[in-house]
Amino acid sequence: MKTYRAAVIGCSRMGGFIDNEVIGAQGIPLPYSHAAGFTACGRTELVACSDLRSDVMAEFGRLHGVPAQGQYTDYREMLAKEGLDIVSVATQPEPRAEIVIECVGQGVKAVYAEKAMAASMAEADAMVEAVESNGAILNLGTNRRWDARYDRMKEIIDSGELGELEHLIVYQVGTLFNSGSHHLDLVLRLNSDHPAAWVQGHLPEGDPLFAGDVLTEDPRAEGIIQFVNGVTAHVMLTARRSEYEAICSKGTITAIHDGLSWQVRRASSTGLRGRDQFHDATPPETTPNSSTLCLIEDLVHSLDTGEPPRGGVRAARAGNELIFGLIESHRAGGARVSLPLEKRTTRLVRNRAPRQPKYRPD
Ligand SMILES: NC(=O)c1ccc[n+]([C@@H]2O[C@H](COP(=O)([O-])OP(=O)(O)OC[C@H]3O[C@@H](n4cnc5c(N)ncnc54)[C@H](O)[C@@H]3O)[C@@H](O)[C@H]2O)c1
Repeated sequence: MKTYRAAVIGCSRMGGFIDNEVIGAQGIPLPYSHAAGFTACGRTELVACSDLRSDVMAEFGRLHGVPAQGQYTDYREMLAKEGLDIVSVATQPEPRAEIVIECVGQGVKAVYAEKAMAASMAEADAMVEAVESNGAILNLGTNRRWDARYDRMKEIIDSGELGELEHLIVYQVGTLFNSGSHHLDLVLRLNSDHPAAWVQGHLPEGDPLFAGDVLTEDPRAEGIIQFVNGVTAHVMLTARRSEYEAICSKGTITAIHDGLSWQVRRASSTGLRGRDQFHDATPPETTPNSSTLCLIEDLVHSLDTGEPPRGGVRAARAGNELIFGLIESHRAGGARVSLPLEKRTTRLVRNRAPRQPKYRPD
């Protein structure tokens, strides 16, 4: 079996060091960073890396065994020299489209792109075009799509044992590109990637964050998403963080503390006027897995077989479209906006320095 040559562009927290932030954390089995994932995967070899910060890259090389001659401050030079099969793009979203497009144009066949996919819808479109026209594949780092606990939640929804899926609720506190990208992708996955028809959004701190079509900070957002299959999602900003609920016609399933525990309720009696009453039922038993490793193995499987990956570039764009749907709805005074969006040029442009990764665990 072929060993695929892998590299990481963007060697900071998610690229290489985030494991040091979560060691011992319940529900986050390692490996977590891209580099640790490539090392753990028996079918990939991490041979090169690229970052604009050579000091960070040197530490990355020490930790993950990439020698100095495999470290590049210019990712284009790396692509030209290294004959890579799989490349991670673990930068912030602003430079992502340009880098991904260059990777697949230079012959890279599989991309592991961090979320959020892109800083604008126009850039997401260009990424879809570049990936598909070059015969490449892309998985977005929305980890819950490869998390066995949410596979179980989806299995229970799909089995019909709780009736028809009607509503999905996201309880969250974070910002849209950083955290919302995860939550919105999970909503898409739990609803079997049915397309959304329209979105209504509200950005509590929104208006001052816009300078024309430039969004100057990652905003918080809440809203409603209507899917073409009749399912409605509610995205709420609440003190409950990373909890998800599916309300079906005959019961509910709720992921508590991001899937560390579960609540299931079933219609098991009738009350006033013969209406169903929901009662607590046995919750599923789930075991967390390394979703990073699972995502990489999914890319390897696709490279081996030619089958599509579980995520793919179009699911990535669908999540990006929900992000921008909430944004455009807010800009239109909370109006319902139809998807796909007509306006695709609003762009996230932040003036922020990269973070200092944690080189060692405490
Ligand atoms: N999936 C997850 O659970 C998870 C967790 C944390 C972060 N993330 C995502 O990972 C991404 C990176 O986050 P972070 O906190 O590691 O970011 P960061 O800002 O700390 O680091 C980004 C790195 O990219 C490098 N970079 C920027 N442009 C580059 C270029 N042209 N060539 C080479 N390197 C370049 C920077 O020098 C920096 O070291 C973000 O999109 C974030 O949302 C995902």
